[in-house]
Amino acid sequence: MTTDPIVAALDIGTAHTTALVASVGGDLPRTPMLRILGVGRARTQGLRRGVVSNIEEATHSIREALSEATRHAGVNAESLYVGIAGEHVRAMCSTGVVAISGDEIVRADVDRANEVARALAIPQDRELLHAIPQEYRVDQALGIRDPVGMVGMRLETEMYLVTIGSAPAMNLRRSIEKAGFKVKELVLEPLASALAVLSEEQKEAGVALVELGAGTTDVAIFHEGKIRHIGSLAFGGNNVTADIVHGLSVTQNDAEALKEAYGCAYEPLLAGDEVIAVPASATHAERHLSRELMAHIIHQRMDEIFNLVQREIETAGYAGKLNAGVVLSGGGASLEGVAELAADVFGMRVSVGVPAGRLSGLRELIDEPRFATVTGLALYGAHRMALGGAVVRRAGLSGTSVDKLAQRVKDWLQDFF
Ligand SMILES: Nc1ncnc2c1ncn2[C@@H]1O[C@H](COP(=O)(O)OP(=O)(O)OP(=O)(O)O)[C@@H](O)[C@H]1O
Ligand SMILES: [Mg+2]
Repeated sequence: MTTDPIVAALDIGTAHTTALVASVGGDLPRTPMLRILGVGRARTQGLRRGVVSNIEEATHSIREALSEATRHAGVNAESLYVGIAGEHVRAMCSTGVVAISGDEIVRADVDRANEVARALAIPQDRELLHAIPQEYRVDQALGIRDPVGMVGMRLETEMYLVTIGSAPAMNLRRSIEKAGFKVKELVLEPLASALAVLSEEQKEAGVALVELGAGTTDVAIFHEGKIRHIGSLAFGGNNVTADIVHGLSVTQNDAEALKEAYGCAYEPLLAGDEVIAVPASATHAERHLSRELMAHIIHQRMDEIFNLVQREIETAGYAGKLNAGVVLSGGGASLEGVAELAADVFGMRVSVGVPAGRLSGLRELIDEPRFATVTGLALYGAHRMALGGAVVRRAGLSGTSVDKLAQRVKDWLQDFF
């Protein structure tokens, strides 16, 4: 039995709801280590393209995933780090400028500049999710990571702000509360996945994380160590499955099972045609189908999705700048041939990302690309807990000790995304 603090994370995906329970150890607060204790997984109900559409049903999936994870772990979880995604997510850059009065720039000046950048008017129906300082400018000098100690008259900060729709966020919180849990923090899903599968070196060199989910395909671009762009496409594994349903005249369940067992996203990988057996259904007797035909169907759709991703990368201005290439995560990254197809479309190095880094315990439970999001959420939570971050957000707290704590958390957020 562990005496280390417990962190619990919840990823409510369009297809599956996954809960992870871990303990936080390691060298605190700088390098927390996550010891995996238990994982729970349930079929998601009541979600459409990443957004809660039926609270009652979503609540049921949340309960199921969490009761499995906590039973597995042998510990209780009360409050959760929860992923959020969907078409309501927006990101923008904001700058903040302040005059420097002292001899050199001090931490408080950096804070003031960040506060100015963060204080952008947010519409009533939206809320601020993340405010991530990216870089600073001191007088004419650009691209400064840490201006503290530098000499100058004018300090400018560039901040990356992520906002979400209030209604989807409220419905998500409500589903979790109805399931009997508290929300500690909401975290953008692709950023969480990036925490779990990307290395600092990759983010420095330039990399695009492409999360292949069931309902959406999310893109997060990192360059020179910082998040630079996020985007979400309304296509994912569900579209591939629907194409198989139509193309092979099979049921949804059969299409899903056939895709996972025999699917291939890159036709050239298949040598000769193989025949696959489809079990009898209400409408058809047992049949035999061509694996090549299914590969053709999957290849077409994934090619289309990757072309949309490519356009997203170009529009964001990062084509030709991603020296570490592309990393695939999410359930769709387990599809045979998916990295080969992606490499063909992007003309870049492509790898499949599985959770790595500061992990111990039952690591084998999360050793697949579909566990990237939930592992990243727990890693995020581990860092926040290590710094006492959860306390800071609560309204009405003031005083020097809390300010110091808030300061440390800001430092850390800057280091993290
Ligand atoms: N081995 C596999 N081969 C092919 N596809 C797979 C495999 N395993 C999972 N998938 C597909 O991955 C998708 C589910 O991925 P994931 O669990 O990451 O999605 P999600 O988080 O529920 O959805 P989203 O993030 O879009 O809300 C499904 O479309 C599923 O068919
Ligand atoms: Mg997902």
